[in-house]
Amino acid sequence: MGSTAGLTDLAGRHLVVSAGGTREYLDPVRFLGNRSSGLQGYALARAAAARGAEVTLVAANVTLPDPAGVTVVRVETTAELRAEVVAAAGSADAVVMAAAPADFRPTTVSDAKIKKSDDGSAPGIELAQNPDILHEISTHRTRSGSVIVGFAAETGDATGSVLDLARAKLARKGCDLLVVNDVSGGAVFGSPDNEAVILAADGATVEVPRGTKSALAHVIWDQVATRLG
Ligand code: CTP
Ligand code: CA
Repeated sequence: MGSTAGLTDLAGRHLVVSAGGTREYLDPVRFLGNRSSGLQGYALARAAAARGAEVTLVAANVTLPDPAGVTVVRVETTAELRAEVVAAAGSADAVVMAAAPADFRPTTVSDAKIKKSDDGSAPGIELAQNPDILHEISTHRTRSGSVIVGFAAETGDATGSVLDLARAKLARKGCDLLVVNDVSGGAVFGSPDNEAVILAADGATVEVPRGTKSALAHVIWDQVATRLG
């Protein structure tokens, strides 16, 4: 985005971004996880740093190199992600939850590697729901005037269109902006490009045409900057 070169509109701001996908361990070597690459979160962190912000990037299992000028905190599980995001959010002007936390975790983690049995049977896995970090930081704000942003990859279903479901999710989460990817036609995972609709709690809708994840990152920070005043 040539138009953002030299922009320092986020100077003096502390911005927190989460990226990647969490892992929930079954035993020391196995986990439940997801396909989030971390590319969009890293693009957000780089874009914010380029615009002068102090950036904390909480990265869950991302294999990308640390962006220059960004404080990177590495985590694995949703519990660790929650602890680091909640701690950083306390002094943040804005938080963007680009990470994909696992929705469920095994209720018990075995200290030893789970062995196969000779009879060909497989163990069941009992799951518990993970805490909703976005909902927590949106509904227990420690800093007035902060801007909180969520992401949602949605497919339409019998109960509503992608945007219907996304509007409902925005309200449920209590965040200020929700960046919505329509993944009905295929996944965005690992792709350098992204296209999205940004829904705002104040009713605004911003359509972002297909482009780089960096371009989308800059549009998201534009929306955040406007609301920070
Ligand atoms: N999120 C979160 N904590 C969780 C799950 C999700 O903070 N335990 C955040 C994600 O980082 C994202 C937003 O919530 O910014 C929406 O994630 P999504 O998976 O779409 O929402 P869920 O509430 O988990 O709903 P779903 O059942 O559709 O997966
Ligand atoms: Ca989810």
